[in-house]
Amino acid sequence: MKILVINGPNLNFLGIREKGIYGSHNFEYLLTMLEEKANEENITIETYQSNIEGEIIDRIQKAYYDQVDGIIINPGAYTHYSYAIRDALASITVPKIEVHISNVHQREEFRHVSVTAPVCTGQIVGLGLHGYLLAVDAIQRIYMDTLEHKN
Ligand code: DQA
Repeated sequence: MKILVINGPNLNFLGIREKGIYGSHNFEYLLTMLEEKANEENITIETYQSNIEGEIIDRIQKAYYDQVDGIIINPGAYTHYSYAIRDALASITVPKIEVHISNVHQREEFRHVSVTAPVCTGQIVGLGLHGYLLAVDAIQRIYMDTLEHKN
């Protein structure tokens, strides 16, 4: 199975930006964590990061043609206002998990709203980088459940 992990704006700045909120591990560390998870689980995890809204939309559309089995997305600040990313996610029927490193509900009011979460299967917030690994587990579980129902 193939999972795509998309990180939006400023997530490449992990380990540099607001360490009190996002921790001191850098983006490379997150990518290594995901690579190790893929090896352990014997699955394919592709990763993509962009600071540009249109590029994220292009990548979501590409995932449709690539026939990925699930998408994990941290849309960064786009979470709170990008109807265009929401529409792109809504176009694809595979399981989609939204991840936020920080607990957005404990932060500024504008972060309490996610325009993307309603078109995702589920959302994981506030568990740090571990949230991405939990999202991989969730997609695997949904995938296995779907296979069972087909047979
Ligand atoms: C974030 C939360 C967003 O509000 C913020 O703009 C980010 C990161 C998180 O992972 O906690 O860039 O998505």
